[in-house]
Amino acid sequence: MAEAFNDLALPDSKAARYAAVADEIAAVLEGEPNLTARMATVASMLAASFDDYFWTGFYLVDPDKSDELVVGPYQGTLGCLRIAFGRGVCGTAAATRTTQVVDDVEAFPGHIACDSRSVSEIVVPVFDRTGALIAVFDVDSTRRAAFDALDAQWLEHILKQAFG
Ligand code: SME
Repeated sequence: MAEAFNDLALPDSKAARYAAVADEIAAVLEGEPNLTARMATVASMLAASFDDYFWTGFYLVDPDKSDELVVGPYQGTLGCLRIAFGRGVCGTAAATRTTQVVDDVEAFPGHIACDSRSVSEIVVPVFDRTGALIAVFDVDSTRRAAFDALDAQWLEHILKQAFG
């Protein structure tokens, strides 16, 4: 599925690929203020660019319940609709406001199994320009230890560029 978002050949190295996709995302989002449109575009373009992205999407801080996440734009199989702050990997990223990289979800206390095929994941908090937490970005992979510090660094950059 990588290379699906357009006909451009994406670089093989992970860092170069993230750099190319970051530029593409910035170009596509230029001038679009709608948050749903921006989130859907980020999820679609990243999911189309990396084979390890099995489930890719946003959980938004619920405006009516500030300690609960509710699913937002995503690509992949059916995701849980709501996650309490502090629960699972997404809830931990939201509660601590820090990126979580999990090599083996079975070893993560309280992990929420929405799809048993997901075995590793990365969850990155998303902040608006005032520094308020608005969402977390969750990527799940069917491969063990699919994500590392390079993914964290690039996703934090792309999400800051898109929403900060
Ligand atoms: N794996 C996540 C739950 C969300 S989904 O798998 C889409 C977690 O433990 O936070």
